[in-house]
Amino acid sequence: MLPELERFSSSLDVDFELFPYDIAGSIAHARGLAAAGLLTPAQLKAIERGLRVVRKEMSEGRFTFVDTDEDIHTAVERRLTEITPAGASLHTGRSRNDQVALDLRLYARAAASALIDGIAGAVDALALKAADHAAWVMPGFTHVQRAQPVTVGHHVLAHAEPLLRDAERFRHAYDAAGDMPLGSGALAGTTLPLQREVVARELGFERLTANSIDAVADRDFALDLVYACMTAAIHLSRLGEDIVLWASSEFGFVKLADEIATGSSLMPQKRNPDIAELLRGRAGRPVGSLVALATTLKGLPLAYDRDLQEDKAAVFAAVDSGLDSLRAARLLVEHLAFDRDRLAVAAADPGLLATDAAEALVASGTPFRRAHETIGKQAAAGNLRPPWDAATSLRKRDLAGAPNPRRVAARTRVVRRQAAALHRWAQEHPPALPD
Ligand code: ARG
Repeated sequence: MLPELERFSSSLDVDFELFPYDIAGSIAHARGLAAAGLLTPAQLKAIERGLRVVRKEMSEGRFTFVDTDEDIHTAVERRLTEITPAGASLHTGRSRNDQVALDLRLYARAAASALIDGIAGAVDALALKAADHAAWVMPGFTHVQRAQPVTVGHHVLAHAEPLLRDAERFRHAYDAAGDMPLGSGALAGTTLPLQREVVARELGFERLTANSIDAVADRDFALDLVYACMTAAIHLSRLGEDIVLWASSEFGFVKLADEIATGSSLMPQKRNPDIAELLRGRAGRPVGSLVALATTLKGLPLAYDRDLQEDKAAVFAAVDSGLDSLRAARLLVEHLAFDRDRLAVAAADPGLLATDAAEALVASGTPFRRAHETIGKQAAAGNLRPPWDAATSLRKRDLAGAPNPRRVAARTRVVRRQAAALHRWAQEHPPALPD
C-alpha cells in the first residue's frame, strides 16, 4: 500500500492503549491452543515468556516499532516472533477480528470497574458533605428562581443519587462485555478444535459469544459503556453548573478554597470556578463519543468492516474523560465550603414559604386553588405572612424523599454504604488478566 495510505489506516497511535489486554488475550489463547494440543508445552512456555518480554518493553516505553506495525495486534505478534520462533504459531485459529473484539471487551470491563470506583469516590464525598449540612437551610430553585426551602444536604445528595444510577449503568456495561469472542475467527469460526471455555475461564468471562458473525461485528457493549460515561458526565456537568452558580458573587453560597480556585491572569480580585466549569464543558466529549460510535455502527454490513477500527478513539475518549471528571468532582466537593450566613439570608426570603402558607389554608379546609389565589395576592402586594419559618417548614416536609433534615441525614448514611459497596465491587472485579 502507498505509505501515505498505510499511515491513514494505521491505528497504532490509538490502540497501543490496548496492549495489556492484547497480551493477556494472547496468553489465554495460547493456553487454549495448548489445551487443544495445537501447541506443545515447550511452545506454550516460549510464547508466554516472549509475551511477557513484549509487555515489559511496552510498559517501560522501550518497545521499538517498525513500519509494518499496523496496529497493536501486529506489533505484539511481530515482536514475539522475533523473540521466539514459536510466535509463528500463536495466531492459529484466530483472526484480528475476533482478537480486537476480545481486547476491547477486556478493556471495557476494566474501564467499567475503574469508573465504578470513581463513582464510589465522588458519591462518598457528596454524601459526607451532605451529612455535614443535613440541616443547613437554603433556597431550592426552579427556573433559577427561589422556590421553596430545602437543605444543603438534600441538594448535595440530589447530585449523588444520579451517580448511583450511573454505577448501575456501568455494571450493566461490565456484564454486556462478558461474552468471550475468541474462536469466532474472521467471522466463521475455525476448523481447528479450539478450547473456548479454557480461554474464557483464563480471562474471567461468564459466557461464550453465541454467533461467530455477531461476535466480530457487534459493538453494542461499547455503546453501553460510552452511554454510561455520557450520563455520568451529564450529571457531573449539572453539579459543575450548580457550583458555578453558588460560587458567583450573586449567590455567594460557597467559597472556593485555594485548592480548587483559579485566579485571573488580568484581574487581581478574581477567584474562578474553572474546575466546575470544566466538569460542565468536558461532558461534550462523551456526547461526541456516543454520536461518533453510533454513527460508525449504523448501517454496517455484517460481519467485520474496517470502519470498526474507529470504535476505539471514541471509547477511550469517553472513558478517560469519565475517570478524570469523577476524580476532579470528588476533589472539588471535598473542598467545597458553604457560607452559612449567606445561605441563611437567602433562605429567609418569605416568598419561599408562600406554598406553605397556601398549604396551611388547605389544612384548615380551603380548596387549594382558592388558597393559591389568596396567597398569590398577598405575595404580589408584598404583605405575605408565612405561617412558620423555613426550619419548621423543613421539619414538616416528612414524606419519603423529602428534605426533612432527619430524613436527609438518614439518607446520607444509606448513600455512604452504597458508595462503600461500589468500591468493594470494583476491588472484587479487577481486570482479569493472566500473567
Ligand atoms: N485494527 C483493526 C481494528 O481495530 C483490527 C484489524 C482487523 N483488520 C482487518 N483488516 N481485518 O478493528
